[in-house]
Amino acid sequence: MCGIVGVLSNHEVAPILVEALKRVEYRGYDSAGLATINAGHLDCRRSVGKLINLSDLLVHEPLQGKSGIGHTRWATHGEPTIKNAHPHRAGKVAVVHNGIIENYLDIREKLKRRGIECTTDTDTETIALLANHSISQGKTAVEAAFATLNELKGAFALAFLFDGEDDLIVAARKGSPLAIGYGDNEMYLGSDAIALAPLTDRLTYLEDNDKAVITRANVEIYDANGTLTNRPVKVISAGTGQPDKSGFKHYMEKEIAEQPSVVKGLLQQYLTTNGHFKDIPLDIGFREFDRLILVGCGTAFYACLVAKYWFERIARLPVEVDIASEFRYRVPPIGNKTLALFVSQSGETADTLEALRYCTGKAAQTLSIVNVTDSSIARESGLIFPIQAGLEIGVASTKAFTCQLTVLLILALKAAFDKEAINDAHLSDHIASLKDIPTLMRRALDHKDDVQAAALHISLARDVLFLGRGLMYPLAMEGALKLKEISYIHAEAYASGELKHGPIALIDNQIPIVMMAAPSDVFRKSLSNLQEVLARKGKVILVSDEEGIQAAGHEITMSVKMPKVSPLVAPILYALPAQLLAYYTAVAKGTDIDQPRNLAKSVTVE
Ligand code: F6R
Repeated sequence: MCGIVGVLSNHEVAPILVEALKRVEYRGYDSAGLATINAGHLDCRRSVGKLINLSDLLVHEPLQGKSGIGHTRWATHGEPTIKNAHPHRAGKVAVVHNGIIENYLDIREKLKRRGIECTTDTDTETIALLANHSISQGKTAVEAAFATLNELKGAFALAFLFDGEDDLIVAARKGSPLAIGYGDNEMYLGSDAIALAPLTDRLTYLEDNDKAVITRANVEIYDANGTLTNRPVKVISAGTGQPDKSGFKHYMEKEIAEQPSVVKGLLQQYLTTNGHFKDIPLDIGFREFDRLILVGCGTAFYACLVAKYWFERIARLPVEVDIASEFRYRVPPIGNKTLALFVSQSGETADTLEALRYCTGKAAQTLSIVNVTDSSIARESGLIFPIQAGLEIGVASTKAFTCQLTVLLILALKAAFDKEAINDAHLSDHIASLKDIPTLMRRALDHKDDVQAAALHISLARDVLFLGRGLMYPLAMEGALKLKEISYIHAEAYASGELKHGPIALIDNQIPIVMMAAPSDVFRKSLSNLQEVLARKGKVILVSDEEGIQAAGHEITMSVKMPKVSPLVAPILYALPAQLLAYYTAVAKGTDIDQPRNLAKSVTVE
């Protein structure tokens, strides 16, 4: 949510800031803005919508200056309008903010008592007003920023720029990520290493409650107690090139197509050629755990739901799965034999991070499955298992999901092996099935006619039902989520067996019903559920293999034929039709696939 950048340079900063913002636009694209110190004075440019609008504005109204801050917004408080766009300026202060100031209404009241009125709908404006008021009372810029920071409750990554201060940015972090980058007599600030990658690979991540006073020559970091402190400078390579679509129309299409190769790479990372585990360290073995907690949000949560089936069925390990935003507010008891596992592509999802923090010190082991290995979740986890999916830019997660599933299945197999829940022969069979996945994925991607035809049909619908049973139930949820996200068609997922307990009332001859039905021990049961739908004139799109489609008979409206696959690994393969159905539906509808409305790639507010 919201990308922040800051630069103290010896060159004009507006183009540098815009380039850096481009790299964090995945964090939000409701509005964008810059503030610089131009001939000693604060100056701002802001525009609504994507960054390209700000770039256009800068052509007509250039912004001079060698120091500046920038922001790309995912709106929390207040509509995406110019008035609510960052930087927020009050007198001598400009502020960019990622997060939520929870006590902003109290601050507004306090400002009002001083005769200071707010003019925007945002929480952020109160920060600029407070700091400007302090300056008007005689405080220096740094004193004013620090005094303001001490009054804020909630989560924030913040950068302040001050009129008359060409060599100063004050930054602070509580909850939301923020990194300082070191250049040659230049300093940078960014929400993550990706923002700063072309500028520097030498970074310091601020810790919670840190305040930083940044000049071109130096940075002073003060910890929660106000003590001047040293934070390590790390060399982090986040790839310097601007990401490109490699000839694909959308990043999402490219990322779907990359899955066979990234999954293959992952299998090589965690399995030897002769099918043994490698690079799977645990402080204690799986035998020592009596319970597994799996936590994630959105697509990552659905990966956890699939993994519950795997860990319980193969490894006989009791599993609890929860959405991160619910998990810690349940105040669940965490035993000292619990393994707490967190799944997150970005590694910055605020709810997942807080769930991790809740378990830290209580669980026997915390472990995270992340894509971004220098993210907050990665840094705060006891152990990490990188999914090595490469940069995922499309807001709808695709390759990260199949990579998360692959790592989770490898861990479930390792758990089963450690606990002697499966024998060597079974383990070899499962690993062989896993190793088939990249080839099967390629085959599925080579035959997309079925899925394109089904997507055309779906694109005309107002509502869509996704059904699945067993391991296919979370896949049905993932299919529905993808469709909602990028095509804006309302979609719901149900466990096929649950249909008759209510949702069957929705079925008529209009609503397309996508049934995800890979071969499994519940396939016959799924067929019975299919009959229940057909008996009510439901229009069924069946996603299954040849045998499954034949068994379903002629009454189904359409089918998406998948290669034959072992039931255990089927969710990894069946993620592809779930993604492609959404993708081609969105193509047919002409929606903004890579940057769908109201969404952002990294959700750093609770
Ligand atoms: C859906 C999607 C989101 C994310 C969720 C968690 O396509 O991308 O539902 O899966 O916001 O994000 P991470 O995995 O970064 O924690």
